[in-house]
Amino acid sequence: MDYQIAADNLKDRVILVTGAGDGIGREAALQYAAHGATVILLGRTVAKLEAVYDEIEKNGSKQAAIIPLDLMGATKQHYIDMANTIQQQFGRLDGVLHNAGLLGALSPLDHIEESVFDDVMQVNVKAQLLLTQAILPLIKQSPDGRIIFTSSTVGHIGRAFWGTYAISKFATEGMMQVLADELSDTSIKVNAINPGGTRTGMRAQAFPAEDARLLKTPLDIMPLYLYLMGPESRHISGQCLDAQRKPGISNEQ
Ligand SMILES: NC(=O)c1ccc[n+]([C@@H]2O[C@H](COP(=O)([O-])OP(=O)(O)OC[C@H]3O[C@@H](n4cnc5c(N)ncnc54)[C@H](OP(=O)(O)O)[C@@H]3O)[C@@H](O)[C@H]2O)c1
Repeated sequence: MDYQIAADNLKDRVILVTGAGDGIGREAALQYAAHGATVILLGRTVAKLEAVYDEIEKNGSKQAAIIPLDLMGATKQHYIDMANTIQQQFGRLDGVLHNAGLLGALSPLDHIEESVFDDVMQVNVKAQLLLTQAILPLIKQSPDGRIIFTSSTVGHIGRAFWGTYAISKFATEGMMQVLADELSDTSIKVNAINPGGTRTGMRAQAFPAEDARLLKTPLDIMPLYLYLMGPESRHISGQCLDAQRKPGISNEQ
């Protein structure tokens, strides 16, 4: 499928990106801004968020906003406060990209550490649920809302040693499907993206010995991120789509 993306594809939309300071989330934030959106950058490392903010400004895109939040420690009230701030500052929210994620440790299932399991499930699953609950009232007011989750190849096919991460991505796809079904009579479209192996810090952590130059970059996989956030995807909901149509690289993440 080819995604033809107009330059003003996201004009007038306000879009929240989690994990916007690095990797795929950073590129998505830059591209959403370049296509006309006001982007809210959420993450835990303020210096990284500020660098993305500055780059958006340098590119001449609409001024962004920063929400510093560590998804590991954030409570339900933090997300409610965040939603109230978005309501007060922007008066609307049209899209959310749930992108922030943790890999945890690769190991056989019987060696998974309870603390690592808890951390990965907290960031990759529970944080997404609480954030989604908090922003739903706002996004229901959007004429064309979008919620995008981030899955993985191991989010629909289990693979040895990918234990906690794979379980968290199965849960993510389940959350996406449940929400898409619940919102099926609204204009909000809920989908997931499987980025496929992409040149980021997380990928390097999972495959330290591979030649990263052979991997797609975050910029390469942006067409699907733009398409699913924009108006052309109004007929798609409840799906997990691959950002790399011809994966070509073994050991996809
Ligand atoms: N890269 C791949 O090959 C690949 C393949 C399949 C799926 N994915 C998925 O794609 C998404 C993005 O991954 P990536 O490769 O871009 O990873 P990355 O480069 O490690 O970036 C992850 C982002 O999430 C943020 N984050 C992590 N823990 C957080 C927390 N507790 N609170 C707030 N923010 C937090 C990080 O913030 P800091 O910068 O502050 O650490 C970073 O900005 C993830 O959901 C990942 O599972 C990636």
